[in-house]
Amino acid sequence: MDVNEKKKAAAHAALAYIKPGMIVGVGTGSTVNFFIDALSQSRIDVEGYVASSIATEQRLKAAGLTVLDLNQTGDIPVYVDGADEIDPYFRMIKGGGAALTREKIVASASRQFICIVDDSKEKGMLGQFPLPVEVLPFARSYVARQLVKMGGNPTLRQGVTTDNGNVILDVVGLDFTDPVNLEKEINNIPGVLDNGVFAKRRADVLLVGGDSGVQTHKP
Ligand code: A5P
Repeated sequence: MDVNEKKKAAAHAALAYIKPGMIVGVGTGSTVNFFIDALSQSRIDVEGYVASSIATEQRLKAAGLTVLDLNQTGDIPVYVDGADEIDPYFRMIKGGGAALTREKIVASASRQFICIVDDSKEKGMLGQFPLPVEVLPFARSYVARQLVKMGGNPTLRQGVTTDNGNVILDVVGLDFTDPVNLEKEINNIPGVLDNGVFAKRRADVLLVGGDSGVQTHKP
C-alpha cells in the first residue's frame, strides 16, 4: 500500500476519538492534513479546534471549521498529531514541519494524545531522524556549539522561519538512550525554545496505518 494511503487510513481511524461538543487539538503535517479532510467530511459537531501551527489554522479555516484560541480554552480533551518517529514507549521525535513548539504546547494542554502515523515511523529506538531544535536567531551559533558538546552535529534548516520567528537546527548524532533526560538537557540551553523530543508528553494512543489496515496500540 502507498504511504499516503497508510497515512489516510490512520487519520480516518482517529475520527473515532472525536465526539460532538468537544474541543479538539490539531497537529501539523501531511498525516494531519488527511485528518482535517476527514473531519470536514464527517461533519461531527464539535465546539471547535485548536491549531498547532499557522498552516493548520489556515487549513481548518479553509475547510469551514471553527478555530479557537488556546488562551480561551481550558484543558483540551483530545489532540491528534503525526510524528517523525515513535518508539515502543510512545516517545516521539517531531518537528519535521518546524511546528514542534506549538505542537508540544497544545499536546501538553490536552488530556489524550492520539498519534497517527504510517508504519515507517515506528522505530525500536529514536534518533535516526535528525532532531529539530527551535532556537532564537540571536542564539543560533551559541546553541549549535552546546549541541556539539553534547555529541550532536547540528545543521541550520535553510530558508525556514518558524511561526514564532525562530530558526531550526536539525541535529544528528545525539544519544537517545534516555530521551526524557535528552529533552530536558537540550531545553536547558539558553536560547532554545523547545526541541522535538516528545518524551515527557508522550502519545497515549498510537494508530498505525500499514498494509493490513490500521493497528491501534495503547501502552
Ligand atoms: C510537524 O512539525 C511535525 O511534528 C509533524 O507532526 C511530523 O513531521 C509528521 O509529519 P507528516 O505527517 O507529514 O509525516
